[in-house]
Amino acid sequence: MRTLLLIACLTLPAQQPGFNYDEAKVPAYTLPDPLVLADGTPVKDAATWRKKRRPEILELFAEQVYGQTPKTKIKIRTESLEIDKTAHNGLATRKQVRVWFGPNAAAPAMDLLIYLPNNVKGRVPAFLGLNFNGNHTAQPDPEIRVTKSWVRAKGNVASDKDRGEGASRWPVDMILKRGYAVVTAYYGDIDPDFDDGFKNGVHTLFPRSEKPNEWGSLGTWAWGLSRAMDILEKEKEIDSAKVVLHGHSRIGKAALWAGAQDERFAIVISNDSGEGGAALARRKFGETTARINTSFPHWFAGNFKQYNDKEDSLPVDQHMLIALIAPRPVYVNSAVEDAWADPKGEFLSALAADPVYRLLGMPGLLVKEHPPVEIPSIGGTIGYHIRKGKHDVTDYDWTQWMNFADLHFKKK
Ligand code: GCU
Repeated sequence: MRTLLLIACLTLPAQQPGFNYDEAKVPAYTLPDPLVLADGTPVKDAATWRKKRRPEILELFAEQVYGQTPKTKIKIRTESLEIDKTAHNGLATRKQVRVWFGPNAAAPAMDLLIYLPNNVKGRVPAFLGLNFNGNHTAQPDPEIRVTKSWVRAKGNVASDKDRGEGASRWPVDMILKRGYAVVTAYYGDIDPDFDDGFKNGVHTLFPRSEKPNEWGSLGTWAWGLSRAMDILEKEKEIDSAKVVLHGHSRIGKAALWAGAQDERFAIVISNDSGEGGAALARRKFGETTARINTSFPHWFAGNFKQYNDKEDSLPVDQHMLIALIAPRPVYVNSAVEDAWADPKGEFLSALAADPVYRLLGMPGLLVKEHPPVEIPSIGGTIGYHIRKGKHDVTDYDWTQWMNFADLHFKKK
């Protein structure tokens, strides 16, 4: 079932209208300037960015793209499910923590799977990211709790059979050996990924109006990431000032939106996030705005649909989402065989965020042209690489991310 879903996603471009793979058909476009206020005043200093332009852009994304994140605070309760200090042949301590979004047993809950490296003294930096199919699919470890959320999401039940099926995307040993903790949760625990009129997941916690600025699923996944951060702030083994937020594809879109809103994330990584993530909508290359709003009507705010085939009238483009992460380091990466996510549009978006980093006194992106395949640019505050292969997360990607994080955390 999971495999079928994945195959369906990968074959989508060939079957459906609303995409373009022809660079010659990319229209001429002008990007909105991140350094000009809505009233036309240029932003010339860091204080004006911080006090005026940044809030303005944040609000535009909330109103027009992802929907407003509810301000109401939910009382969160945690339950320790288990701790094992001998995981991964003694390399790690594995913890599983259930995070209840509300006081009673019927509240939605997210299971956090945490691996802490045993061989490191003091607080450790961590990589935090959501997974697609349940924590038990991230590693072939029989102790990982099997998610119950699939039942609600797909009418089928997750089972032992799925253990470790996504492990190639989670090279836990390699990450632990480099001194980082690994933290993950299943995105469906936060909000099951289907169009149900927003009646499940954490949507049930917040009263919903008919307004077109109500949040969609991407907004809830971003919210869930911030709640994971709340927990990491209390984990005494983790250095919460060094949490690297990463995400692949739809989860990469959510990671960028979470990193834009929540400045506690020290570094943000977008892996193949494409349309509604790192890629510029105005290029209309790969998946278009109309396509994503049709295939996934529950991901964005209702307002975003008014930009179907009208990308030029968007008051933002995705380079401004990347710019919202400034001055914190951000990393964008693409794959050659992932035209659906528009690698060039992802690179150009990272490049167009560069002036904001420079204004804030940071080195931004060190390359000005789309770099050759597997020649990563990690030296600036905006990192980028394009690798061989498909829409996926590989050891190659992880290696660059850790090199980038090492550099910015001044490890070694
Ligand atoms: C689909 C969708 C993309 C998304 C991807 C994924 O292909 O069109 O926007 O990024 O699924 O999440 O794998």
